[in-house]
Amino acid sequence: MRAVQYDRFGPPEVLRVNEVPTPRPGLGEVLVEVYAASVDAGEVAFRAGEMRRITRAAFPRGVGGDFAGRVASVGAGVQAWQAGDAVWGVMPHFAFGAIADFVAVPEQRLAGAPGNLSPLKAAALPVSGTTALTALTDKARIEPGERLLVRGATGGVGSVAVQLGKALGADVTALAGARNLDWIKGLGADRALDYRTTGPADLGRFDVIVDLVGTDLGAYQARLTRQGRLVALAFDSSRLVRSILGTGLRAAARPRRVKLFSNNPSADRIAELTRYAEAGDVRPVIDTVLPMDGVVEAHRRLEAGGVRGKYVIDMRRS
Ligand SMILES: NC(=O)c1ccc[n+]([C@@H]2O[C@H](COP(=O)([O-])OP(=O)(O)OC[C@H]3O[C@@H](n4cnc5c(N)ncnc54)[C@H](OP(=O)(O)O)[C@@H]3O)[C@@H](O)[C@H]2O)c1
Repeated sequence: MRAVQYDRFGPPEVLRVNEVPTPRPGLGEVLVEVYAASVDAGEVAFRAGEMRRITRAAFPRGVGGDFAGRVASVGAGVQAWQAGDAVWGVMPHFAFGAIADFVAVPEQRLAGAPGNLSPLKAAALPVSGTTALTALTDKARIEPGERLLVRGATGGVGSVAVQLGKALGADVTALAGARNLDWIKGLGADRALDYRTTGPADLGRFDVIVDLVGTDLGAYQARLTRQGRLVALAFDSSRLVRSILGTGLRAAARPRRVKLFSNNPSADRIAELTRYAEAGDVRPVIDTVLPMDGVVEAHRRLEAGGVRGKYVIDMRRS
């Protein structure tokens, strides 16, 4: 089968489509034929070597954190799935590799795919959607009528957080690039502000801030109401270790006010996302669909900025 891999850190051009053995599903695992998978910001940082001090996974490494497709076969002990089931899911924590013809994953990383979405559309959602869902429900426990700020609103996670915030009854302000302001309002934001001309001091107060950028967290934390919660999902890549430590200390000092987590969804959380998608409360947002060998271009574009939602790789298009 084909799999996108890299064997050294570097620019997008280190990515290659390699021929590799098709994995066999082990105990409790499901082999999924991947129809489509998305490219995420996290894997771009790993590929560039920004996370090299955080993880020591061996080369070659894969890319792609989520997928939509069909069950090809199941390993011993798997009762819930059978060949032919339409599924979507998330790769095991910190293990990329979904941009491939097949993946073998623990059955807990899967849910039934939404019946109303094609695999190509569905593939934009599992990582972004479960991250936004955990941020707004488990972590922030957002209530109807609360004021939500999404910082980094037009990317993968932000474009779902805006929709979900509205579905959960919040008043949503989006911070986004100038060319995307009307576009993000079209996705449901009550107002949109240009992040290049609007600093934290220009903003009002928010009950919940979902931060997808990782810089100036103290200044954004200062914009919270008395009971406000900041969910910090990103780190400042220009000073990664300091940023991780700083955000960790911030959360340890004020655990009710500052939350951080690394997305590692349960099967129940993925199934919850299926229900939101089927209800139409969360719609996939796809910037561009590319074939497997377009992954280099997708990484280049994601690094250049300006994404609207997700880049999706169509495994069945050549
Ligand atoms: N903790 C977790 O479990 C978890 C899970 C998923 C993602 N993440 C992290 O969260 C971050 C976002 O992920 P993603 O997939 O949504 O990334 P993405 O698709 O690349 O989106 C990032 C967004 O941030 C915007 N942005 C950049 N600088 C900004 C600034 N100064 N102010 C406001 N917005 C700004 C970008 O807008 P322009 O392109 O227009 O500049 C873009 O819309 C990444 O760092 C990712 O690693 C964490």
